[in-house]
Amino acid sequence: MLEQGKTFQNVYKIIKKFEPKQTGAFGENYLAEKTDLFNEQVVIKRFAPLNPNPATLKDAQRLFNNEAKMLHELGKNHDQIPRLIAYIEDEREFYIIQEYIEGNDLSHELEEKWNEDKIIELLLDLLPVLEFVHAKGAIHRDIKPANLIRRNRDNKIVLIDFGAVKIVNRPDLENQAGVDLTTQTIVVGTLPYMPLEQLHGRPCFCSDIYALGVTAIQFLTGQLLLNLKEQEIEDIQEYLQSAGVSEKLASILSKMVEENWRNRFQSAPEVLKEFNKIQLPYFVFTPSPEHTPRLLPLDNWRGKLTRNRT
Ligand SMILES: Nc1ncnc2c1ncn2[C@@H]1O[C@H](COP(=O)(O)OP(=O)(O)O)[C@@H](O)[C@H]1O
Ligand SMILES: [Mg+2]
Repeated sequence: MLEQGKTFQNVYKIIKKFEPKQTGAFGENYLAEKTDLFNEQVVIKRFAPLNPNPATLKDAQRLFNNEAKMLHELGKNHDQIPRLIAYIEDEREFYIIQEYIEGNDLSHELEEKWNEDKIIELLLDLLPVLEFVHAKGAIHRDIKPANLIRRNRDNKIVLIDFGAVKIVNRPDLENQAGVDLTTQTIVVGTLPYMPLEQLHGRPCFCSDIYALGVTAIQFLTGQLLLNLKEQEIEDIQEYLQSAGVSEKLASILSKMVEENWRNRFQSAPEVLKEFNKIQLPYFVFTPSPEHTPRLLPLDNWRGKLTRNRT
């Protein structure tokens, strides 16, 4: 536990602890000021697992270490992922210090129902971030409103919480050795947003597409997929259309949340391509050198081109 007003590691002055309801199973989160950097605000995530079982503890520590490594690599290369500022081991305790994103996480926006434009904006904002994360060999595995922050400065969505990240095909990073530490001993992810294959310990890149689809449907309808009637889930496109969603968006969302991963969109660019087919007057194409063409809302496309550090 870090105390408010005290200074940690000589430079991090603790401002407050984030509400416990915002805190997951392994950590406590604090807002702090970095006194040797013009009091820049940072978030300190303290690794504090509830389960004292030594085997689980070791795995959980490695997960935390993975989170730090992944955040380090991703955050320095993408504007919509927080930067890692430091990773500290202190008397067998572990801390991730990261850039503070001023804004609110999207769990604060669950009360209001979003209109279709706002949903499309969310998807067009986040799919390129997912594309970037996946291209680095990472599956986020915990996409949900609480892990998405709407940044005050420009209203863009920032993806946080790489605590459940799975790293694939990256011999340079640790959890590669053919053993998935995370599914062996610890269940990670959040149930209502989790597709079947992830629940069975075999997540794929499109598991993140599923979670993003569930999130979008929740904002559109106020309902979690899990809570719908069986028949509604079976024909989710019909359900969405009867709730007033356009045929095109309903068909994209229903393909994002296909129960069988084989029938789902396999990647973020695949979903973006579908959006490219919708002829909306306020969208423009922007060529991207490394990736497939993407579509951006006209009013902020210039900003996006200069802001993204990818
Ligand atoms: N970089 C950040 N900037 C602003 N708020 C953050 C940041 N990281 C975490 N938070 C806040 O703390 C909460 C929990 O952090 P998160 O990384 O999701 O950890 P947990 O594993 O506890 O879910 C978030 O929902 C958010 O409200
Ligand atoms: Mg979280």
